[in-house]
Parts: sequence; structure tokens; C-alpha cells
Amino acid sequence: MKIAMIGTGYVGLVSGVCFSDFGHDVVCVDKDPRKIEMLERGEVPIFEPGLDALLEKNVEAGRLSFTGDLAQAIDGAEAVFIAVGTPTRRGDGHADLTYVMAAAEEIARAASQYVVVVTKSTVPVGTNRQVKQVMKKANPALDFDVASNPEFLREGAAIEDFMKPDRVVVGVQTERAADVMAEIYRPLYLREFPILTTDLESAEMIKYAANAFLATKITFINEIAALCERTGADVKQVAQGMGLDGRIGNKFLHAGPGYGGSCFPKDTRALARTGQEHGVPLQITEAVIAVNEDVKRRMIDKLLDMCDGTFNGKTIGILGVTFKPNTDDMREAPALTIVPSLVGSGAKVRVCDPQGRREGEHLLPGVQWHDDAYKCANNADLLVILTEWNEFRALDLKRIARKMATPRLADLRNIYSVKDAKRAGFEAYESIGRSGFIAAAGEDRKTA
Ligand SMILES: NC(=O)c1ccc[n+]([C@@H]2O[C@H](COP(=O)([O-])OP(=O)(O)OC[C@H]3O[C@@H](n4cnc5c(N)ncnc54)[C@H](O)[C@@H]3O)[C@@H](O)[C@H]2O)c1
Repeated sequence: MKIAMIGTGYVGLVSGVCFSDFGHDVVCVDKDPRKIEMLERGEVPIFEPGLDALLEKNVEAGRLSFTGDLAQAIDGAEAVFIAVGTPTRRGDGHADLTYVMAAAEEIARAASQYVVVVTKSTVPVGTNRQVKQVMKKANPALDFDVASNPEFLREGAAIEDFMKPDRVVVGVQTERAADVMAEIYRPLYLREFPILTTDLESAEMIKYAANAFLATKITFINEIAALCERTGADVKQVAQGMGLDGRIGNKFLHAGPGYGGSCFPKDTRALARTGQEHGVPLQITEAVIAVNEDVKRRMIDKLLDMCDGTFNGKTIGILGVTFKPNTDDMREAPALTIVPSLVGSGAKVRVCDPQGRREGEHLLPGVQWHDDAYKCANNADLLVILTEWNEFRALDLKRIARKMATPRLADLRNIYSVKDAKRAGFEAYESIGRSGFIAAAGEDRKTA
């Protein structure tokens, strides 16, 4: 089967590479010539574990190629996937569908035979019908179907998620489109991964409902964490006790500095907006959005407390700025709220992140970048763990404490414990939803 993939970002590139690995002939298109040049040289523009090797294998096998020319890519394609960005629209929080509609129009103008146009981008309910209208208007003679095929991959584990999905969701209007989609996902069907075929609207809604639910779960435990800090409970134990309940499950119950990333923030906003437009305000989702902002602000208060009430003149080391480990994606990372606030309040901020520098350098002006966590901590007044990269999970805490001007650790991912910090010689340690300590105060304390 010949497939064209429009957009070579995190989703388009991973999907294109994986489809080619299924045995399909895939041409990936991007309007960013820099990305296409890199891909043609065999370089991967994003950091995603395992993607470079899989890309090289399929290019060599002659099943995968890249172009900036959309018309050339879709020539003879039986399915064209739209995997372009759907960022938050300025002003009203809705998903910006400009890129999706532009791609749909371009496909319609270039296509000359039956084709299934599949939206892989996350789009609000009703968008696929709009795509159909736009295409009909652009090329009334074209024989085509639309399909919705939302993507659930996680950055950092994207290949595994694509190849071994919990489920594939396919929204269609015709049997003909359903057959094409079944053929594309045949390798997964044969391995008995669940393929759920629905109508267009349900497929679109499933994606938003799933993301909003996960964002709710994270935000719920973050709010419980705040209460744990006031009451002496330990959120790690609480989450464990909750997660062992099969009805709840232990995933997405890790308290932290608030969710970020390329999906949850924009998707919760877009879903809330859809609810408002239809006269069905989604009060839970709206509360989640507001509470998540509070969580990020609370992190700044926590750090301020650890800096004796002022950031001015303090040297602060930050370990990890990407929104989660194993990605270079900085979109809506908590670091983008926390770091500028420290810099703006007069702190000297150093940052160490295994992959975040390329993106982070222009997003975080005024910070000093380090490749090494120990150098980042050298003579610092406070060290903050913001992203739980593996590199930061087994630090020599004694060595770090010795090097710091005032050995204080803010562990916003709950990697270490009061015991670890005390043993290493830290004078203060705070985490999320657990009691911390300040040695100067002579005793453990509950954080506010
Ligand atoms: N990133 C994730 O983890 C993830 C997971 C699931 C779903 N999604 C959804 O998938 C979609 C894409 O997300 P992403 O993170 O891959 O985006 P991205 O911003 O990384 O990539 C989008 C790419 O599309 C290209 N593009 C835009 N218009 C084009 C056009 N007309 N022709 C050719 N190329 C074009 C851009 O140049 C860019 O390279 C979004 O709707 C997102 O919500 C993302």
C-alpha cells in the first residue's frame, strides 16, 4: 500500500517510519525544507529513542522517502495522513486548525484518484466533516473519503507505543474507507491489538476524552499532594495505596510540578472550549486547567521558601527542563513557567538537560547551560530536579552537597527522600506531597 504522510513532527515522522516498517511504501512530506534536508541526509530532526535506526533501515529497504513536494508525495497514494500541528489558537483556547485545513485543500487540489484522507492530528469533534467540505470545495470532481485516526503515542516511547498500541481508533463513514484503514493496520490486527472502528465524531472525541482524563488523574494527585504536605501524609504511599485498586490503576498517579507537554495543555483547553461552544461547560476539565496552573505557581513558592524568601543574587541549578524525560520537547514544560520566574527575580540560573538545550536555548534566555549535573550544582545555593531523566536518578548526592554553597535540594519529581538527603549532608530537602526538612530549624517540618 502506498501512503503519504503530511507533517514530519513527532507524530508524522514516527507514524511514517513505523508504517514503512509494516511493509508499506511511505513518502513523508514537510513544508519545512530544513527538516526534509536533514531527513534526506538520514538525520532525525527530533530526539526519539530508536527512531534513527528504524528510519535508516526502512530508507535502505526502499520503502521510506522524504520530500517537500506534496503533489509528488500523494501521486498514487491510497491513503494520505494529515499529521500537522494543532496548537492552541490565540485568544480563545481552541485548537488552531489552519494547518489541517491548508493541508486538506492542498491534498484535494493535487489528488486525481480515489484516496482516503486520514486525520492523525488531534482535532476537535466535527473537524473531519469540515475537512470533507474544504476538500469538496477545492476539487468537486475528486472521489475521496475522510477518516479519523487519532494517535496515542507517548514521546520517549513512541515506537513501542505505535508498534504495540493499547488500541487503534479508526473513525470512518464508508466501508471503502474502513477497508483501506484495515489494510494499513493489518500487521497490528494480525497480532491481535484491538482496532476500534467508530463514526468520525466518536473517534475525534475519544482522543480528547482520553487526554483530559489522564490530565485529570495527574492533577488530582497533585492536589492531594498539596494536602499531604499540610497533614503529614506521604503522597507516594497514598498513590501506591490508591493505585493498587484495580479500578484506579497506578499510572499517572505520580505527583510532580504540573503537567506540560505538546498535548495535555492544549487538548484540555480545546476540549473545554468545545464544551462551551456546545453549551455543555466541562467543569471538571476547566478545573483541571486552573489547578494545573496553581500547581506550577506553587512550585515557585516552594523554591522561594528554600531560598529564604528571595531569589535575588542566588545561584540555582536546574536539572531537567524538557516536559518529561527521553524527549527534547519543551512545549509547555513546567520549566517555561518556573525558570523565567527565577531569572526575572534576580537569580543566576544554571541548567543541565541531556536533550533540552537545542530547543531550550532560545526559550530560556539568561540561563547558563551545563552538560554535567555536578558542574551545575557547583557553588549553587539551591539545586532543583525538574525532569526525572535517568541521569538524575542515581546522582552522587554526597558529592553534590559538598560542592554547593548551601546544600539545599528541591526534588520536584520525588526521586530521592529525606533520608537520602540527610545522609548526603544536605541542609534542606523538599519534594512534592511529602514532609521535607531544614537542618537549621533543627527538626523535620511540614512544608506549606
Ligand atoms: N507530540 C505528541 O506526543 C502527540 C501525540 C499524539 C497526538 N499528537 C497530535 O499530532 C499532531 C502533530 O503533533 P506533532 O507533535 O507531531 O507536531 P509538530 O509540530 O512536531 O509537527 C508538525 C509538522 O507538520 C509540518 N506541517 C505543517 N503544515 C504542513 C503542510 N501543509 N505540509 C507539510 N507539512 C506541514 C510542520 O512543518 C511540522 O514539521 C497534533 O495535532 C498533536 O496534537 C501529538
